[in-house]
Amino acid sequence: MTDVSGQGSGTGDQRQILTNRQGHPVYDNQNQRTVGARGPATLENYQFLEKISHFDRERIPERVVHARGATAFGFFEAYGKIGDEPISRYTRAKLFQEAGKRTDVALRFSTVIGGRDSAETARDPRGFAVKFYTEDGNWDLVGNNLAVFFIRDAIKFPDVIHSLKPDPVTFRQEPNRIFDFMSQTPECLHMLVNLFSPRGIPSDYRHMQGFGVNTYKWVNQQGETVLVKYHWMPKQGVRSMTELDAAVVQAQDLGHATRDLHEAIDRGDYPEWELLVQMMSDDEHPELDFDPLDDTKVWPENEFPARPVGRLVLNRNVSNNFAENEQISFGTGVLVDGLDFSDDKMLVGRTFSYSDTQRYRVGPNYLQLPVNQAKNAEIRTNQRDGQMTYFVDTAGESPHINYEPSLIDGLREAEYPTVDEEGPVISGRLTRKRIPRTNDYTQAGQRYLLMEEWERDDLVANFTANLKQCDRRIAERMVWHFLMAEDELGLRVGEGLGITPDDVAHLEPLATQDLTKEERERMANLG
Ligand code: HEM
Repeated sequence: MTDVSGQGSGTGDQRQILTNRQGHPVYDNQNQRTVGARGPATLENYQFLEKISHFDRERIPERVVHARGATAFGFFEAYGKIGDEPISRYTRAKLFQEAGKRTDVALRFSTVIGGRDSAETARDPRGFAVKFYTEDGNWDLVGNNLAVFFIRDAIKFPDVIHSLKPDPVTFRQEPNRIFDFMSQTPECLHMLVNLFSPRGIPSDYRHMQGFGVNTYKWVNQQGETVLVKYHWMPKQGVRSMTELDAAVVQAQDLGHATRDLHEAIDRGDYPEWELLVQMMSDDEHPELDFDPLDDTKVWPENEFPARPVGRLVLNRNVSNNFAENEQISFGTGVLVDGLDFSDDKMLVGRTFSYSDTQRYRVGPNYLQLPVNQAKNAEIRTNQRDGQMTYFVDTAGESPHINYEPSLIDGLREAEYPTVDEEGPVISGRLTRKRIPRTNDYTQAGQRYLLMEEWERDDLVANFTANLKQCDRRIAERMVWHFLMAEDELGLRVGEGLGITPDDVAHLEPLATQDLTKEERERMANLG
């Protein structure tokens, strides 16, 4: 047998031999080919050049956000109903219809701002991206662990992310840059009250919620639509860390959440989440003081109860991190029949952004990779070629016909499954305008008041510690926003910073703000 030890033959080693990618056995993996034992090296050393040049290309660009993450696999099991009602009343999506029906899933958890090897203890939203491999093709539900987001218009996404990413000169995450942007972006207040509370550092990936955040639609057999929001509740419970807890964990391990997930699945302690759905009729809801398509808002659960529709269990770890965690690609445009978009201005921007970045990050044929393929549906496209094409879909009987329509052969269009959608009729002038009903403060203040005392203390301490590192005018504007949201929050953070309501009473509303009558009254009483 061929020796693989490099120590000469006859060792009795039964392992398979090393080859290069051309199938040539590698006889010497220790020494490159040289003229004499001391060199110089020769250029025709194919084995060495192939090895080193492939290594030179081992990395693909990391995700521009959510670079650090962990993926696991499992199943989604439908309840066949929503609360006590048949689910078919609201959606015809096949995966939800039958009680007990299972659909394969992949779930990638992530942090947002840090690079691929950054600490998992960061104060940062956590990604919660689920890929359902359904019989109708894939459905991706790309969510976060916090129910709201910083901004409500996709055009601001690069700015909010730039403010949170390291400074382009010092390469440090700088509170002064973060709060500079946030102080000028009042819609982020609700998110900040969540992010700087203990919820901003989940104890690990198994003990956190997931939220679709954006508003989607469901469509039933009759083409009727409703607006929906998705929530994932962990059976393990929700656990969070204070800054101090996080510092202790981080001193031991930069990847504690990935390790925790991997070890739990390895020992058969499979994590589980229940999927709940909030619903409202598909219209503008003028009776609400917020817009249902505004992702900086939650829908009050007393009016719009979150009702269970199924459960998700993770029971398999990745077998290779690069193939299944680095190259997995999610997108908000990836929906199946019975599910639809809403006009949420974030969602439309996201839907362009994901597949755009994946064509660059992974390559134009990223959907041919096993982890991204719609493995439980039949795939037949007329897409052809491009870098790293791995297979060609069969198009009918004739390999010549890769276009449609054709009299000769090839693929035909599917029949639309049911009648046209009955969604609202929309009309309007082309414009660039803020939505009405911005109402940036009410829910932020309510969120603060709903917190337990230790969470409020932690929130105030975190805001104070960060704003101490900021220019005075930035800190003052933030205190002004906090006072607009909830007196106690503004007073407590202000106290820590030496900023009184009188100090900020002279501030005018931002040019980008439309204050309501109540908010103007509140502002007038700040001093
Ligand atoms: C990842 C864009 C808002 C959740 C990404 C990526 C981009 C992106 C470019 C990298 C994707 C990749 O390389 O595969 C945007 C834009 C947004 C936005 C333009 C706003 C307009 C949001 C919101 C959420 C979210 C509101 C939460 C609901 C995620 C998650 C990932 C991600 C979970 C990681 C997916 C994975 O694990 O591969 N986003 N995003 N994003 N985004 Fe967003």
